[in-house]
Amino acid sequence: MALLRRKLKLVVTVTMVNLFIFILISRSSNQDKNGRHKPLVPSKRFWAKMVPSSAYWNRQQQVLDIQNNLILTANTSGADMPNWLNDSSLTSDLCQPNLRVTTQVKDYNSLPDRFKDFLIYMRCRSYPIMMDQPEMCKKPPFLLLAVKSLAPHFDRRQAIRQSWGRAGVIANKTVITVFLLGNATAKDHHPDLSEMLRYESMRHKDIVQWDFRDSFFNLTVKEVLFLEWIQARCSGARFIFKGDDDVFVNTYRILDFLKGLSGPKARDLFVGDVITNAGPHRDKRVKYFIPESMYVGSYPPYAGGGGYLYSGDIAARLYNVSQHVALYPIDDVYTGMCLRKLGLAPDKHKGFRTFNIDEKYRSNPCAYKSLMLVHPRTPQEMIQIWAWLSRPDLTCQ
Ligand SMILES: *[C@@H]1O[C@H](CO)[C@@H](O)[C@H](O)[C@H]1NC(C)=O
Ligand SMILES: *[C@@H]1O[C@H](CO)[C@@H](O)[C@H](O)[C@H]1NC(C)=O
Ligand SMILES: *[C@@H]1O[C@H](CO)[C@@H](O)[C@H](O)[C@H]1NC(C)=O
Ligand SMILES: *[C@@H]1O[C@H](CO)[C@@H](O)[C@H](O)[C@H]1NC(C)=O
Ligand SMILES: *[C@@H]1O[C@H](CO)[C@@H](O)[C@H](O)[C@H]1NC(C)=O
Ligand SMILES: *[C@@H]1O[C@H](CO)[C@@H](O)[C@H](O)[C@H]1NC(C)=O
Repeated sequence: MALLRRKLKLVVTVTMVNLFIFILISRSSNQDKNGRHKPLVPSKRFWAKMVPSSAYWNRQQQVLDIQNNLILTANTSGADMPNWLNDSSLTSDLCQPNLRVTTQVKDYNSLPDRFKDFLIYMRCRSYPIMMDQPEMCKKPPFLLLAVKSLAPHFDRRQAIRQSWGRAGVIANKTVITVFLLGNATAKDHHPDLSEMLRYESMRHKDIVQWDFRDSFFNLTVKEVLFLEWIQARCSGARFIFKGDDDVFVNTYRILDFLKGLSGPKARDLFVGDVITNAGPHRDKRVKYFIPESMYVGSYPPYAGGGGYLYSGDIAARLYNVSQHVALYPIDDVYTGMCLRKLGLAPDKHKGFRTFNIDEKYRSNPCAYKSLMLVHPRTPQEMIQIWAWLSRPDLTCQ
């Protein structure tokens, strides 16, 4: 008897639930008199029409996004595109000076020269290579140390070779060091050092140089050319460190860290001194000043350009995606933009000290033992710290 009552209760409950669902569905479905379903057609457009950004970089990025969107471009002829997207200068030779920016950026004439130089060549990403090391990675290294340097910095490069950038086998892993140079041009009143550079390159075979003006705002050009170079010359490198020539890198500690990685942690590695919730500086006196006519919005998380570490796999992905990201005058922010487009964010690691360490620890060898990078250090300091770390009897608790 009890069993029957329970069964009845179950049947009633199920029926009630079904009824409830039926009511819900019939309320929300839109049937006409004959019981046929009428599709709900929105009477107005339900997507926002893209409006051009007021800032030049953002506008260039909108154009790139549309050009690279296969759904939008598959069946759209140029004539169907809104006028502001049909920029004939985009189809011309991208390395010709683009004089249209002089009218397209509203305060162009009042901007400092470095912005004018940047904007006019913003679309150019290919510059001739003047010195290459095609054989450098014949045997793919475990770690490639890539150092952004400037032609006159002979002493910094030599100190790096004699210390943390000592190529060869360290802690049983192969390490290769390469210096990335542009052209220190007469335009910036640099003396002609090309003969000395040629000697240095012959002697050490570790210099890659491209023919573009080596300026702060052209560091992004250096970045994209380096990403291309990795794919052409060193795609077998397992990990890559990229940094400045005024940092100390604890190569021992980095190798130790990398040896402990495997799987997705190794494949998707991108670590450094990560800056989050930053945006463009609007104060004209700051080195990193960016005017509103150039960029609006905040910055994605990015690793400070003093130095960061990533996998060879990420390098390949960065190279691909960088073709779809408009050049930005600050190279580390640009790399952050590329990572964001890949759906990735850099990881912060306490070992990257791009803002130095407390003064009272700077001459203590043990302070460097667990660090990966410290900025800034002079050539003499690099050699001193490396000597400390290389002592077999260095003991720290
Ligand atoms: C483009 O549109 C035409 C005609 O509407 C259609 O036949 C064609 O398949 C479309 N192509 C693509 C790539 O969508
Ligand atoms: C750009 O617009 C012009 C008309 O103003 C049109 O003739 C041309 O085909 C368009 N070109 C592209 C590449 O969209
Ligand atoms: C050095 O590396 C090789 C090859 O990766 C390995 O076979 C060897 O055991 C390693 N030696 C030490 C001391 O870790
Ligand atoms: C690059 O440097 C070389 C040698 O100093 C010089 O001849 C050449 O004109 C420079 N290129 C540019 C674009 O300034
Ligand atoms: C970048 O390099 C190119 C080629 O040398 C030069 O024309 C341009 O002015 C440079 N840009 C900046 C911002 O220095
Ligand atoms: C990069 O793009 C090329 C060509 O589209 C593709 O073959 C390759 O798989 C891509 N590599 C990565 C790592 O996404």
